[in-house]
Amino acid sequence: MKPVLASGIFLLIMATKTYSQQAEVIYKTYCGGCHGARLEGNSATKLIKDKWQHGSTYNAIFKNIKSGIPKTEMKGWGNILKDKEINSLVNFIISSQKAPAKKAPSLPSGIPTQDYILKVEKLDSGHTSTPWAIEFVNSQQALISEKTGRLRWLVNGKLDTVPIRGLPATHTKSATGGFMDIALDPKYQQNGWVYLAYSHANGNLQDRDAPGMTRIIRGKIKDHEWTDEQTLFEVPDSLLVVRGDRWGCRFLFDKAGYLYFTIGDMGKAMASQELSRPTGKVYRINSDGSIPKDNPFVNAPGALPAIFTIGNRDVQGIAQHPVTGAIWATDHGPRGGDELNILKKGANYGWPLITYGIDYSGKTVSEKTEQEGMEQPVVQWTPSIAVCPAEFITSPLFAKWKNNLLIGALAFEELRRLVIVNNKVIKQELILKGYGRVRDIKTSPDGSLYVLLNKPDMILRLTAREKPKLK
Ligand code: HEC
Repeated sequence: MKPVLASGIFLLIMATKTYSQQAEVIYKTYCGGCHGARLEGNSATKLIKDKWQHGSTYNAIFKNIKSGIPKTEMKGWGNILKDKEINSLVNFIISSQKAPAKKAPSLPSGIPTQDYILKVEKLDSGHTSTPWAIEFVNSQQALISEKTGRLRWLVNGKLDTVPIRGLPATHTKSATGGFMDIALDPKYQQNGWVYLAYSHANGNLQDRDAPGMTRIIRGKIKDHEWTDEQTLFEVPDSLLVVRGDRWGCRFLFDKAGYLYFTIGDMGKAMASQELSRPTGKVYRINSDGSIPKDNPFVNAPGALPAIFTIGNRDVQGIAQHPVTGAIWATDHGPRGGDELNILKKGANYGWPLITYGIDYSGKTVSEKTEQEGMEQPVVQWTPSIAVCPAEFITSPLFAKWKNNLLIGALAFEELRRLVIVNNKVIKQELILKGYGRVRDIKTSPDGSLYVLLNKPDMILRLTAREKPKLK
């Protein structure tokens, strides 16, 4: 299957925009992931500020971009961007200083789409800090995980100020670590199990160098107390990673009751190909943590038996097609090469041996985009939109979008609707753009769609109104 190339569209945008708009596109493509889409800072420093760490003059900023800053993640861009483009970036950064830090545009109450006017409600968002995942226990109540290491109740649209007590402490010192996805047991109403993925580390959690790995646990919540905790997946200390990032982690309970979860490459790209190492994989376990007998690598010597697929860089969205039952997963690429894949038991998705992306540093990851024995994505996005959550639409409120796939993007701050026919994406509609990093999407029991945004942190509730018909 040939992937759909998005770069042609990108070039078209570049060609029709003015010079400064071009700088903004270059900025969002290459810089916004670390410095924030609105220069407000993210994993790296903000770029609208009074105090510059490495020089505030035109020449200093030019040099920092072109040659990089030693001993930091800031690599030189001279091998990727032409001097002319770096000049336009410096102008863009300097002219942005005059304006106060750009805030996300205020949300309109109605957003027109192809089939519906979407009504957007902003729920009690002021209190969240990096909301990561949402799960509804009933029509009034949902659980929200926050990257900072909290789990809280959202009751009738209001966030409980008291977090749930008794949860493990988590390592939040890397850009992507902390509390991640939550899931409810398919039989939650009877057994009360809640599943949580978090960044576990040994030693001092304040230490960026504490060796860590994603850990999967389950427990029960009695009012505000986490109890009965069981560890379902962890690795021996010898497999922990120092200074890793890209911990994953998304959950999916498929219709058969298997629990899937994902762990990113933690910066150890080659280990994504090794069955004995935990990073760069999708996993499948039974709900009690035991290993399904027909997992693909149960008999492979030295393999972690929970592995379901390998060569996945950082799967941040996973969802089961309501009709075909196929499991779709978004994989967050490096610079370029975000992927949408259909997961097949035991398959190799190629990272880092094949990829449509290049490393953040500008280094080539691989010359190859395809190879015998490795899967091709259904769609790849270059430049990278920083693809994250995925959710199939089943709500009767959005009947015209039945079985479409919603995906969210972090750096590009997008919510997109993908129309899928015969395992191909035949159309993509942009639904939200520029309101924040889209971290999670969930259908609530009343059929509305909940969207979690980061930077600014928001909980949105989307409902649909039919568009007035034209005569
Ligand atoms: C992989 C992450 C990453 C990317 C991508 C990145 N930077 Fe940086 N940048 C950093 C880090 C880290 C620093 C050092 C300061 C800090 O620790 O936050 C830095 C520093 C800088 C500085 C100096 C800030 C100061 O206070 O003096 C500038 C200017 C800058 N980056 C511009 C850019 C531009 C323009 C791009 C895109 C072409 C870019 N950066 C892409 C991580 C990144």
